[in-house]
Amino acid sequence: MQGEDCGTAASASAGGDSGSDSSGGGDDIDGAGIYNNVCMACHETGAAGAPIRGDEAAWADRVEQGFATLLDHSINGFNAMPARGGNPNLSDAEMEAAYRPHGRAGDGRSRAGRW
Ligand code: HEC
Repeated sequence: MQGEDCGTAASASAGGDSGSDSSGGGDDIDGAGIYNNVCMACHETGAAGAPIRGDEAAWADRVEQGFATLLDHSINGFNAMPARGGNPNLSDAEMEAAYRPHGRAGDGRSRAGRW
């Protein structure tokens, strides 16, 4: 199924940034793009037992560990979660950008550490 999130098609033309209020971010890493390329294979489908993005129950216990711990697990690996999503070329900053909540503008919730 496609088209759930608008904006996936915008990546071809550079600068398809969210453009919302991310002025504090300071970098222009395309976190959503990294997510779509690397993380989505497991985290959109639940492959290998990955917690699915948007599945509140799957993330509830994990979020309690705090964003820093979860980010650390995503960078260094955690059980079936491969280090850096299996892509060693990703920097820490890129991992954070990929993991930072994104693509849900208008959702109204700030979901620290939860996809
Ligand atoms: C090959 C499949 C796969 C890919 C690709 C993948 N993940 Fe995961 N991820 C998993 C699995 C499986 C778990 C659950 C691990 C567990 O709880 O035992 C997980 C868990 C996580 C967690 C929670 C860790 C915790 O402590 O509960 C985070 C955060 C995460 N992944 C981030 C990412 C990010 C960011 C990317 C992309 C850069 C990514 N993952 C790509 C399979 C994957």
